[in-house]
Amino acid sequence: MSSTIAVRAPRLKSVLRAFMTEAEASAQRVGNARRLVDLKRDHSLRVMALVSRLLKAHIVEPYEIGIVAALLHDVGRFSQFEQYRTFRDAVSIDHGAAGAAFLAASSLLDAFSASEKDAILRIVSLHNRRALPVLDPPWDVLLHAVRDADKLDIVRVVLGALEKGEVDSTVTLGLRTEPGVSPGVLQTLSRGEAPDYGQLVSVDDFKLFLAAWSACLSFQESRRIFVQRRYLQRIWTVLPQTPPIAELFQRFADALRS
Ligand SMILES: [Fe+2]
Repeated sequence: MSSTIAVRAPRLKSVLRAFMTEAEASAQRVGNARRLVDLKRDHSLRVMALVSRLLKAHIVEPYEIGIVAALLHDVGRFSQFEQYRTFRDAVSIDHGAAGAAFLAASSLLDAFSASEKDAILRIVSLHNRRALPVLDPPWDVLLHAVRDADKLDIVRVVLGALEKGEVDSTVTLGLRTEPGVSPGVLQTLSRGEAPDYGQLVSVDDFKLFLAAWSACLSFQESRRIFVQRRYLQRIWTVLPQTPPIAELFQRFADALRS
């Protein structure tokens, strides 16, 4: 997957090598659950490739810092899974904060200046916040690029598993599998607000939550990818097609055209 972007910069090359080493060490520590660590490793590599695409499409700099932050955004997932065997922050730890703490204590970013390192740590630590704070330029746009790319790839992973009928409860966050969207989630979305992960009860809530991301992407190129991959149509086919859900999907489709 890393071959989708040309890794020529020496600093980036060494961070990528260290990241792969860390992922492998973590996979070995969790034994037969390694495919879930591999899943997060591959997700991180795809998020890096997506951020590269967004930054190039919108001519955003500093490119290298955006790419490194994207690659490392979920590094906290390794210790989270090793300790708690879950990817649910609500019942374990804040994986963004854990990732930043890991990077602060490691030598992985030693080749970067203090301000570059600080920016990468902030992006890693904040990428999973419900509402993003505003960072000083030029970092704010990088945080949004990582956030958009993360969303685009999470939809891919969850939808891919649902379509194949391989519903791993770790991927679907241990949510209830009985069909039906929770009234609370539907109400929040009908008000035009985004639900929080903590509000999700069922896998159907999660599907609707992912569809709602169509309306909170920062980059035009992200909306293009969402459309190109037919995410909305594909989520629609795996949801109960009730009138309130159809109404929401109409709104999501409009947001993608904006
Ligand atoms: Fe994350």
